[in-house]
Amino acid sequence: MPSPLLRTKSPDRLLREAEAPERKLKRALGALDLTALGVGATIGAGIFALTGTAAAGQQVATAGALDTPLLGLVLGQAIAGRPAAGPAIMLSFVLVAVTCAFAALAYSELASMIPVAGSAYTYAYATLGEIFAWIIGWDLILEYAVGNIAVASSWSGYFVKLLWSLLHLKLPLWAVTDAKTAGELVARGAQDPSVLAPYSSAALPRLFGHAIALNVPAFLVVALLTWILVRGIRESAAFNTGAVILKTAIVIFFVAFGAFYVNPANWHPFAPNGAAGVMSGAAIVFFAFIGFDAVSTAAEEAKNPQRDMPIGILASLAICAVLYVAVSGVLTGMTSYTRFVDDSAAIATAVEVTHKPWVEAVVSAGALAGMTSVLLVFQLGQPRIFMSMARDGLLPGFFARIHPKHRTPHVTTILTGALVGIPALFTDIGWAADLTNIGTFFAFVLVCGGVIVLRRTAPDRPRPFRSPFVPVFPLLGIALCLGLMLSLPLLTWIRFFVWMGLGLLVYGLYGRHHSTMRECESGVLPECS
Ligand code: ALA
Repeated sequence: MPSPLLRTKSPDRLLREAEAPERKLKRALGALDLTALGVGATIGAGIFALTGTAAAGQQVATAGALDTPLLGLVLGQAIAGRPAAGPAIMLSFVLVAVTCAFAALAYSELASMIPVAGSAYTYAYATLGEIFAWIIGWDLILEYAVGNIAVASSWSGYFVKLLWSLLHLKLPLWAVTDAKTAGELVARGAQDPSVLAPYSSAALPRLFGHAIALNVPAFLVVALLTWILVRGIRESAAFNTGAVILKTAIVIFFVAFGAFYVNPANWHPFAPNGAAGVMSGAAIVFFAFIGFDAVSTAAEEAKNPQRDMPIGILASLAICAVLYVAVSGVLTGMTSYTRFVDDSAAIATAVEVTHKPWVEAVVSAGALAGMTSVLLVFQLGQPRIFMSMARDGLLPGFFARIHPKHRTPHVTTILTGALVGIPALFTDIGWAADLTNIGTFFAFVLVCGGVIVLRRTAPDRPRPFRSPFVPVFPLLGIALCLGLMLSLPLLTWIRFFVWMGLGLLVYGLYGRHHSTMRECESGVLPECS
């Protein structure tokens, strides 16, 4: 008999559970809705905030010893800081798009085969076993909750820029960003005072000798969305569609308008740090692609999941990939990439060369709408993953509670709000985005692995969508994800291992003993097969 840690939940059981009347969700989404959902969850802080810093790299002077990309250490050549990708950030986007395409094919196969909510967590339960399901569920907290900490921080950056460019309203620096970013801005402001123009004061209060700064707008936007999600407003789907149209239109507008201001001289040197810069840039801008996989969480709400899940996943990835390569080309052509050092609102900065404040305001508004919809989808997805885990007994049962009036998973929604909103007060975007990326790469590795395993363990199961060239494609996906993970800083790896270690501890102390599968095996629960 296999180890209890490797017990799997059969796809039939998963489907039966999802069809149970008390759990059944309304199947209302078609291929177009699913594609909109994917684009809604994808275009956000990554393209609006991280593209610039990835192109510019991180200066040696500001990089700590542990900020060194691990790949450099593996190859025996410590690279201090992050090598700039330069205009070759376009190639970084292409590389990430190819990596994500392999993962998207794997997601498509699994999502059409096991069309239930829970995404990678559920697939792992069906393919690799309970311990892997737990690991991936715990890991998805990095993708969803930590990812949203990064998005909230970037949201706040654009919010401040918009208040300033539209209303000439200034807020004090200490109340609108975290201490690390505030310190960097003050340092940059000493060289270039225009950097501090959107703030009423750059003075930072001190406590026990440490400068204090709190990102209050980031906290407030998360609190507001949490409140809305607990009340379960029906308008959230309509809001998402509106935000998707608006942000896609503004991204296209930026490309079309910015193209007139491109000076090809800015594309030289094209790749100032060669392959190392492209890899390092790719490991960061991967963040921009995260979200297309969120389509798989809506499997139980799809009208024809077998056909439409693959379409939704692959189409949203393709749309974002094309837009991103175009945006990065225009962005690095409008002004020198070196201007984007530590700049979390690079697109707004690039637009400054047009000397048209209305364009800045339009772009900032689009970025804000875009990031709000990402925040919404992820704040919505995380509680549902917690809920799936609680239903399986891996988390305490009260996590699966539904609000008596609003019919929403209010306990996990509020928990997610606190998990995201409170750290967002203190955290800088780079830290959170790196941790999100490493966690999501790892999830992609397990999903690609899951396809290979399931082809062996259930070769005859109907596969409405078959990923081509298995196992070559999933193996390429795994290799590319691992290669990009190695391009992340050593400190990110340490944080990742600490987080996963903590997860194993929680599983060992709680989930292992309370798993409903365990209760099934011991006959406590009927009808478990
Ligand atoms: N891809 C999402 C974003 O860039 C997470 O905001």
